[in-house]
Amino acid sequence: MTGKKDKAKTIPAANALWGGRFGAGPAEIMEKINASIGFDHRLYRQDIAGSRAHCRMLVAQRIISEADSAAILQGLDQVEAEIAAGKMVFDPKLEDIHMHVESRLKEIIGEAAGRLHTARSRNDQVATDFRLWVRDAIDAIDGALHELLAALIDRAEDYADAVMPGFTHLQAAQPVTFGHHLLAYGEMFSRDRGRFADCRRRLNECPLGAAALAGTSYPIDREMTASALGFDRPTANSLDAVSDRDFALEFLSAASITAVHLSRLAEEIVLWASAQFGFIALSDAFTTGSSIMPQKRNPDAAELARAKAGRVIGALNSLLIVMKGLPLAYSKDMQEDKEATFDAANALALSLAAMTGMVRDLTANRQRMASAAGVGFTTATDLADWLVQRLSMPFRRAHHVAGSLVKLAEEKGCGLEALTLADMQGVEPAITAEVFTVLGVENSVKSRTSFGGTAPTRVREAARRARERLS
Ligand code: ARG
Repeated sequence: MTGKKDKAKTIPAANALWGGRFGAGPAEIMEKINASIGFDHRLYRQDIAGSRAHCRMLVAQRIISEADSAAILQGLDQVEAEIAAGKMVFDPKLEDIHMHVESRLKEIIGEAAGRLHTARSRNDQVATDFRLWVRDAIDAIDGALHELLAALIDRAEDYADAVMPGFTHLQAAQPVTFGHHLLAYGEMFSRDRGRFADCRRRLNECPLGAAALAGTSYPIDREMTASALGFDRPTANSLDAVSDRDFALEFLSAASITAVHLSRLAEEIVLWASAQFGFIALSDAFTTGSSIMPQKRNPDAAELARAKAGRVIGALNSLLIVMKGLPLAYSKDMQEDKEATFDAANALALSLAAMTGMVRDLTANRQRMASAAGVGFTTATDLADWLVQRLSMPFRRAHHVAGSLVKLAEEKGCGLEALTLADMQGVEPAITAEVFTVLGVENSVKSRTSFGGTAPTRVREAARRARERLS
């Protein structure tokens, strides 16, 4: 920052693109708080795509000349190549990516560059760029969810008949199969894909041509720019077009739900991989050691995927709070939409890839899971069901009898299957030796053949259906 200059020479110190009415440049802190180039350079491809579409429309509508349009398009190619090659020097004085592209274009092609911003504002420009960026992010996340689902389905088939304890309240409840448990996550992640697809459908309208807020007096063709950029249609209201960010909020909502699903799976991987559970092992590829405890093998990637949900949900909260109470139309507050969204998308992409890696990497300890599946009288419901089905007992009474047998087994310090027939008949004389066939965990899971149930036959069927839906 230099001191005052004489009046005639102050104009160059003001912003070269919008500084016509300014006598001097901004304070250092103004420049610092105002600049978004530090993060919005990530929009350069979308920004240049938007400019190409706008330029082609301007020439088609005879708003600019063929010669200017040709120069602009050629110049934009060069600017894009320079940024891609890391050759563009980003300067906070030029605020954001939109002004960087335009000012470099001017250096390359001269005055014709100034015609590109006809019938356009940075307000509709940034709304368009950001929609395009979020749309790309949705497509990338959808691909990653697809990979995760494929991994879950493969592993569910591997473990369709591996018995493990199913929990409620994290207390052993009933035996289930590991394949069934993995496919439960498959259901969640396929609904997540649906949420992103819904969000994509709604966001796919083009704000370009809304200009600053009111539309424009030039004879523009909004259908043309919308379709050139792959949008379904132009947005219907210019005020809404420049001030709406609900597409980003929806994206972050869908991302938050996915992140929550990932964190639940991550939490289970952490639990299962502990010595106390010992249900699964992760290989060297997905664990880390401790610098002090030589025996350790820590599931750090799962822990971090669990934690990243915090960032994603934080981004949603942050943008909700930014948008809350903003009057129409554009306010600079909205520049704060990007960093959080970029960060959430990064965090989600990383978590998805790491979780997919872990699902493919893990090995289940079938023996350990099966023996844990029997701990805690988990076949007590099977016992009650046997009493209902074989002795025509009303379920409530069967529940009571099975409860008494659990109590007896608890007193004797053994499992239900270790009670003698005489023990059983002491509680309910009509019980026969056949009851022992339902007390094993294998039989228990095999019997749960209702649609959506945990029986291995059902799990294989469900995996097949999920695979069909995926392709
Ligand atoms: N960098 C700005 C943003 O991200 C671009 C729009 C600026 N518009 C304006 N009227 N200053 O929101």
